[in-house]
Amino acid sequence: MNNVLLHPDSLGTNLSEWLSGNGGTGLEKALSDPAGIISIIKEADLRGLGGSGFPSSKKWQFVAEQSANPDKYLICNGNEDEPGTFKDAHLLTHAPHQVIEGALITALASQINKIVFYINPEQTTSLDNVRIAVEQWETCSLFEQLQAQLETPLSIRVMASSGHYIGGEETAAIESVEGNFPFPRGKPPFPAVSGVHGCPTLINNIETLANVPHILKNGAQWFRELGAGSSTGTKIYCLSGDVLKPGVYELPMGTPLSELIDTYGGGMLLDKKIKAVFTGGASSSILTPRDIDVPLNFESVKERGSSLGTGAMIVVSEGTGIVKRVTEYVNFYAHSSCGQCPPCKTGTFYISQLLNKIDTGQASEYDLESLINLCKILPGSGRCHLLDGAMQVIDSSLTHFIDEYKSSLRP
Ligand SMILES: Cc1cc2nc3c(=O)[nH]c(=O)nc-3n(C[C@H](O)[C@H](O)[C@H](O)COP(=O)(O)O)c2cc1C
Repeated sequence: MNNVLLHPDSLGTNLSEWLSGNGGTGLEKALSDPAGIISIIKEADLRGLGGSGFPSSKKWQFVAEQSANPDKYLICNGNEDEPGTFKDAHLLTHAPHQVIEGALITALASQINKIVFYINPEQTTSLDNVRIAVEQWETCSLFEQLQAQLETPLSIRVMASSGHYIGGEETAAIESVEGNFPFPRGKPPFPAVSGVHGCPTLINNIETLANVPHILKNGAQWFRELGAGSSTGTKIYCLSGDVLKPGVYELPMGTPLSELIDTYGGGMLLDKKIKAVFTGGASSSILTPRDIDVPLNFESVKERGSSLGTGAMIVVSEGTGIVKRVTEYVNFYAHSSCGQCPPCKTGTFYISQLLNKIDTGQASEYDLESLINLCKILPGSGRCHLLDGAMQVIDSSLTHFIDEYKSSLRP
């Protein structure tokens, strides 16, 4: 197993232990050649691990190029409120120093002077551990050396997010950091140009940032070789549902889904057969047993019509009602919609009503037709991806499990 982020040397909350083991060298290398950081990240092909898979070096470069405003922000996104996703809380709780070192290197690369750790309020241990870890960094000599290389003094804030799922969307996070309700903003302007208080703002996921010190320390080629096939690096998969050993598993990016479930997850509970896998939390198309061989990387999962998202895999076994499961997730999305875009608020409300009706045997064929039609009309009509995510789950469940929907209708 290629553990880097979850390697025992990367864990722990004591800064001197981190610096005497795996840590510090990445930042030292960055300090010796700040102008070269972004090309190393580009060569490593580090991609955003918060769901989008966007090349990190591109975002960093955009922000680095902004010079009109003296302040620039980095939001370290640890909102993590999607069903089945729990990797960032694990990293923040057990390995805060590698995340903070990653954020410091990122700040240096893009000349950012305001770092905000934005953490789900229910993760109180993550919040406590990051606060303590930041205090430790602020008094260490590497931090002083970093300050000397930044044009404006660096400050680090650790804040609890508002606790809404939508607050993890990048522009909603910007609103939250400003002290407002997390309503997503329209784009453009993109955060790299105008984010927190109109300043250039970079938003990166916690797992993305955790990789950075290791890449700087060991080099881009080392990172590329960690992956499987054309994928680079490792991925933390959040495995849950009907497997014997649910948990967080760091494996090479590109590990087949079957290996994650059988070798690391211990196989299926009660030796049942797999019926479906909800990927990327519950906001992507469902994978079915025919996709069990899929390499878990951005491109391969996309080729199967789904997306890797955050790397969350919720496994369900034969005997589980898909309509009930989809209804539960859509209830969550309906509740989580911020209400700013009427098609999203009312759309998720109506589909949640329809699904609850179908699930409880009270729906007619007309209701099912309405659900199918809404799946054609609603995608793309919200400002952010929340509505699209909800619709993808429903649409794919209709494609693969239409018979279950039909047999749930009232006689
Ligand atoms: C509804 C919604 C919720 C999101 N929640 C999170 C989250 O909790 N954490 C996260 O890192 N990204 C989340 N994202 C993705 C962010 O918008 C953004 O792409 C990400 O933080 C960028 O970091 P990365 O490039 O390192 O992946 C969410 C997106 C949407 C549409």
